[in-house]
Amino acid sequence: MKILHLVFHPDLKESRVNRIWKEQLEESGKITTSRDIYLEYPDFQIDIEKEQQFLLEHDRIIIQFPMYWWSVTPLLKKWFDDVLQYQFAYGNKGDKLKGKDMQIITSVGGQAKNYNGFHMFASVPELLKPMQLTANLAKMNYAQPLYMFNADACSDEEVKKFGENWVELIDDPRRGDGLKYTNEKLHSELIDVYQQLGLD
Ligand SMILES: Cc1cc2nc3c(=O)[nH]c(=O)nc-3n(C[C@H](O)[C@H](O)[C@H](O)COP(=O)(O)O)c2cc1C
Repeated sequence: MKILHLVFHPDLKESRVNRIWKEQLEESGKITTSRDIYLEYPDFQIDIEKEQQFLLEHDRIIIQFPMYWWSVTPLLKKWFDDVLQYQFAYGNKGDKLKGKDMQIITSVGGQAKNYNGFHMFASVPELLKPMQLTANLAKMNYAQPLYMFNADACSDEEVKKFGENWVELIDDPRRGDGLKYTNEKLHSELIDVYQQLGLD
């Protein structure tokens, strides 16, 4: 599986969390191509053909960004607007991304209790819904999103722990089938619980 890793952080040099994760994923040797998109397009003038070519050449697209104002960073929004064109990503002949996986990774500054989905709160998967719908439109497989709360206050060790877990998951082909993957994971976790309780 060829994996394209696109990082949309406005200043990756000054970043802590996203820079650590990018390094961990690169060092894993599992990523085919890893890119810092803000570094490539400081003027926001995206080379559409180049971006489309990268997409065509890979099977799984990882999109990584820090959550800003409950949303994506501005260059990521523009990247979607510019690159996912009619008759490329959607339209009657727009099936170029069909069957590829979209994997979101995001760092969230707020705490989990403020993302519980209740009342005036929203959950992270709810906030990422536009990307899930984009994946649907492009006939891509939307993998279960990976995210970490408390991104500004947590320790480097915690950040690295998340990164280590994600390195394990990142090339797992089952993640392309979100429902099956979640069911299997839930099942194996339940088996562990049964074993711990001596009920197996
Ligand atoms: C302009 C801006 C907007 C932000 N908006 C949010 C937000 O809506 N919700 C949230 O939980 N954190 C928010 N944060 C915190 C960032 O998500 C956090 O700083 C980032 O994930 C840390 O990653 P980094 O170390 O790679 O920069 C915001 C930060 C900035 C700079």
